[in-house]
Amino acid sequence: VIVIGAGVIGLSVAWRAARHGLRVLVLERERPGGGTSHVAAGMIAPVSEAVASERTLLALALASARRYPGWIAELQADAGCETGWLPCGTLMVARDGDEAAALERERAIREELGLEVRRLLPSRARELEPALAPGLRLAVEAPQDHAVDPRALCQALLGAVRARGGELRRASVAGVAVEGGNVAGVRLDDGRLLPAAAVVAAAGVWTAALDGLPPGVAAALRPVKGQLLVLRDAAGPGLLTRVLRGERCYVVPRGDGRYVLGGTVEERGFDRSVTAGALHELLESAVGLLPGVSELVVEETLAGLRPGTVDNAPLLGPAGVEGLHLACGHYRHGVLLAPISGELLGDALAGVGEVPGEFSPQRFQVALR
Ligand code: GLY
Repeated sequence: VIVIGAGVIGLSVAWRAARHGLRVLVLERERPGGGTSHVAAGMIAPVSEAVASERTLLALALASARRYPGWIAELQADAGCETGWLPCGTLMVARDGDEAAALERERAIREELGLEVRRLLPSRARELEPALAPGLRLAVEAPQDHAVDPRALCQALLGAVRARGGELRRASVAGVAVEGGNVAGVRLDDGRLLPAAAVVAAAGVWTAALDGLPPGVAAALRPVKGQLLVLRDAAGPGLLTRVLRGERCYVVPRGDGRYVLGGTVEERGFDRSVTAGALHELLESAVGLLPGVSELVVEETLAGLRPGTVDNAPLLGPAGVEGLHLACGHYRHGVLLAPISGELLGDALAGVGEVPGEFSPQRFQVALR
């Protein structure tokens, strides 16, 4: 099996396939985990990021979140290193009457969906998180929404793939080679063919640029820019222990004194510049929720490209050419959906499972006819 892309999704698929005893080669043109996974905030947030109209995606997200603790334990055992898993819960907060009305609507929607959310008095929220700004109007707790450090996670996944006999190679892939309706392997930019019985395209939004994909796939994918900051508290951890979400920003603790403050959602093509306006807005929003943010050291400013799709759901499973599978288009949920994506694709590759049709890449080919 050749997996194109050593991000959190490609590595999760590779690890599962390698655990089934398949021979796995992962190809990556840059650093492993150096693309969108490097920039991702790492929220495991099926409840706080739920969208009422996206029920199928919500079911997949909940299934993946349920797997997380066990998946992390197995991963740490295989890789022999930490993953930055932080089972910390999430607080959603509102600063004024308008935000409180909107947050209450969001809480009610989640309750109707059967999701675990609790309305908290602002005083109770400040007991839980004493650094929160005074004067917040409403807080809602999502106790099962957690966080992980995607950079540590990718390193662990890479270690686990190798521990199971998989291989990583630096290579720039031009596309998928197809012969007689079957996958023959992967064609590199230098013209070489690497033969494979199965290929998994897991290169995030860059999957769209690969040759040899069925029609519809490239058109279904688009980059959605997200800007964020990595901040550090010189005094160490403790300013915030849970993920904090406001209407216009989120703050994710790493548990070691670092905090990720994100994230803009911008339709700007493949632009990855960091802009003053975005940083200003994120910092202003975060300081309004958590005044101590203004004392933190700015360690990094970043922009990444989420692999957006037409319906916000990933492209998972067989792509209409024998032996070709897709695992891309995870939009805002790549880190959350890594365990279930790895399981579904890895099991399908080993012939012990099938990917549910709802996420088939072929849904967009049908739309094109
Ligand atoms: N899931 C966080 C983000 O996309 O910004």
